[in-house]
Amino acid sequence: MDALLIEGPSKLSGKVEVSGSKNSALPLLFASILFDGKVTFENIPRLWDIETTLKLLELMGCRTEWEKEVGRVSVFPEVKTKVAPYDQVKKMRAGILALGPLVAKYGEAKVSLPGGCAIGARPVNYHIEALRKLGVRVEVEEGYIHASVKDKLVGTEILFPEVTVTGTENLLYVGVMAEGTTVLQNSACEPEVVALGEFLKSCGANISGLGTPTITIEGGGLKLPSQPVQIPPDRIEAGTWISISLATRSPLEINHCDASKMTSVLAAFRQMGAKIEELNQGTTLKVTPAEIYHPLHIETAPYPGFPTDMQAQILTLLCLAQGRSTVVESIFENRFMHVAELRRLGAQIEVNGNVATVEGPVEFQGAPIMATDLRASACLVLAGLISKGSTRVSRLYHLDRGYQRLDEKLRRLGAKITRVAE
Ligand code: EPZ
Repeated sequence: MDALLIEGPSKLSGKVEVSGSKNSALPLLFASILFDGKVTFENIPRLWDIETTLKLLELMGCRTEWEKEVGRVSVFPEVKTKVAPYDQVKKMRAGILALGPLVAKYGEAKVSLPGGCAIGARPVNYHIEALRKLGVRVEVEEGYIHASVKDKLVGTEILFPEVTVTGTENLLYVGVMAEGTTVLQNSACEPEVVALGEFLKSCGANISGLGTPTITIEGGGLKLPSQPVQIPPDRIEAGTWISISLATRSPLEINHCDASKMTSVLAAFRQMGAKIEELNQGTTLKVTPAEIYHPLHIETAPYPGFPTDMQAQILTLLCLAQGRSTVVESIFENRFMHVAELRRLGAQIEVNGNVATVEGPVEFQGAPIMATDLRASACLVLAGLISKGSTRVSRLYHLDRGYQRLDEKLRRLGAKITRVAE
């Protein structure tokens, strides 16, 4: 695995481009299983999770082409084996997104239970319970989900006990191929869910309520998309760049954004004292740091609330605020592992259950630290940039899963950062 060596504190300047959204690209790539011909995607980010997704599709018998330089992927969905094996799914929990399309298109699937990850147990019981209600026989044996349609998929009303992003996505795939009407109550409203639904609608699906807690799907099948699928910008990467700009007190211009999908994140940073101008219909964010940052009380929540995937980044920034902040992690049961690493740099954070209390401002001193999960690794890079002296961030695989060469983009902005093999 690689590590990053960062000399801080770093002053940055210039413009940065946000890559395509990982959490939009993954469900859209798995949607190709629903079709009988080639599906082409553009603005696909260069990430390990994309690599893993294409590997999973190839293991099913699909052919894939990935022009990495231009971010174009084509999938020829000639599925032969309806299996998503453990050795791939263990690397990327989103492998669970093979379940819905295989059941919807082929009436059967054998998908490895994703298993937990650093941030939590990550069960998929809501996915399984919902499929059973649509007429799917689902058995969980020896670490695999065995699903088969008894006679046909019949639409019905589903209530998710808790908002689940990939659970909603899996049921979108199945609903468009089921007979009759499927109503998803307490659905996820995340932009990534809406992007998947809008894509399916562009292929003839009859879906209403996308972006609201109640989605109604009239089954009826799909026609092949007539043009390449555009992956929307990554709202979490865009938010990460704002936190980097504010923490290093470097004005930055962030391009290829969609400000309309970032309202709670923009509100939080502005409440801290940041000036953020939305230009070019919100595709460009011009960020101007402040001398003084105000403390906040933040609670993560399903969209449009403050995203859990931005929790580590804003927690790090709040170490610079004048006073006491509190951050409540309401989505995952163990998403404060970055706190122990931040403390090694001098952060004053106490965690009690799912509440982190931050005292600021503090001055970080560089030290060796270790990435634990995808988004936390970005906050550790951010912390290294504002620490005095050298910081070594190890286990960089986590970062490369979700950010397209963040270190290269930072170097182009003037950061003193080098990647070394561990
Ligand atoms: C998606 O994960 C994202 N991943 C996550 O991003 C994101 O943090 C999460 O949504 C929340 O926004 C992708 O889209 C690929 P959930 P997902 O189902 O769908 C519980 C990243 O860094 N739950 O919305 O797996 C679950 O344990 C990743 O890119 C059940 O109990 O999350 C959690 O507490 C990290 N049973 C809560 O619901 C279920 O069957 C929300 O999980 C499903 C979920």
